[in-house]
Amino acid sequence: MKTLSNARVSELFEHYFAVAPVAVVKAPGRVNLIGEHTDYNGGFVLPAAINYHTYIAFAPRADRSLRLVAYNFDNELVTVDLDVDQVDDRNASWANYVRGVVQEMRTQGFALAGGDLYIAGDLHSGAGLSSSASLEMALIRALTALSGEQVDPTQAALMGQAAENNFVGCNCGIMDQLISARGQEHAALLIDCQELTARAVPVPADWEILIVHSGVKRGLVDSEYNQRRQQCEQAAAYFGQTSLRGVALEQLLAAEGQLDELSFRRARHVLTENQRTLAAANALAEGNLAGLIKVMAESHASMRDDFNITVSAIDTLVNILADAGEGKAGARMTGGGFGGCVVAMAPATVIPQLVAAVELYYQAKTGCEPTLIRAKASAGAFA
Ligand code: GLA
Repeated sequence: MKTLSNARVSELFEHYFAVAPVAVVKAPGRVNLIGEHTDYNGGFVLPAAINYHTYIAFAPRADRSLRLVAYNFDNELVTVDLDVDQVDDRNASWANYVRGVVQEMRTQGFALAGGDLYIAGDLHSGAGLSSSASLEMALIRALTALSGEQVDPTQAALMGQAAENNFVGCNCGIMDQLISARGQEHAALLIDCQELTARAVPVPADWEILIVHSGVKRGLVDSEYNQRRQQCEQAAAYFGQTSLRGVALEQLLAAEGQLDELSFRRARHVLTENQRTLAAANALAEGNLAGLIKVMAESHASMRDDFNITVSAIDTLVNILADAGEGKAGARMTGGGFGGCVVAMAPATVIPQLVAAVELYYQAKTGCEPTLIRAKASAGAFA
């Protein structure tokens, strides 16, 4: 996909609306280094915002409506009346995120103001790199800029998540929105999803993040995702807790054989993943590559065997990357699962051999076409 810039999106606005925009804002997508399906369990995640974004160029309007145009959807135009409750429009995918965000902002008491908005993104949509969270965060930035209102980045993230939960129908956690809002350049964020606190963990200057899209379309994501969430809640309920954060790993292990096998495995993934995420943050901070590689490999195995969210092409891709790294590259599936992307982390000097191995073996072994994305840890929309 072609990379965009503020200047390019400003031009696209001007071409469409025949006037110049007053400003352009952007919000990044994300890659999660480790900590999968832990966010909605009140656990820990370690994502980085990436240098691929949703951009919005905008200008005020005199009336109380929004006219929004989506570059990535053939310049489709959607109009929103800011003074009415938004209705869920199941046929219009991107517009639904817009309506959900407007609705949550209205509910939170934002006054909002009319505007013309041109939306364009260079994130690979459907890859699991959170193009939807980046759309939500960019929109909240643009809408608050238009109305001159202030918004706290964490509040913005919560409104984006609420839009997905209440309007789009995905029971996602807070990770994607929070990292898109609060990400930092050259760093991942260790986020405590119960407390909503975050600590920047710098990525060593000579390391690089390589994302490989498996070419496997993420099927059944919403239904499988919501089902995993339910299974985790059931496991927590067995211990009289509302979230698995309230359950200790020792407590869970002691209940093996009493708790049903599926709930046990789901909970074991989440509780061990929390430990691996904390260990990974330490390893990253110390530049301890061997430590990071170990927990990334364990994380992948746990997603494959206990949480059952990987697919065989993704497992093959992780093996190709790990083998090609010869002990100098960590690799695991990233995101919700059932397709999407793998993330690898390695010294920059090792990246070319990873790229070469993917190009040589992946399609031959799986029949799927990979897309290689070299990513840099980048600033969030409100950073
Ligand atoms: C999706 C969700 C996130 C998180 C991940 C899995 O990206 O939107 O909230 O649960 O899956 O870690």
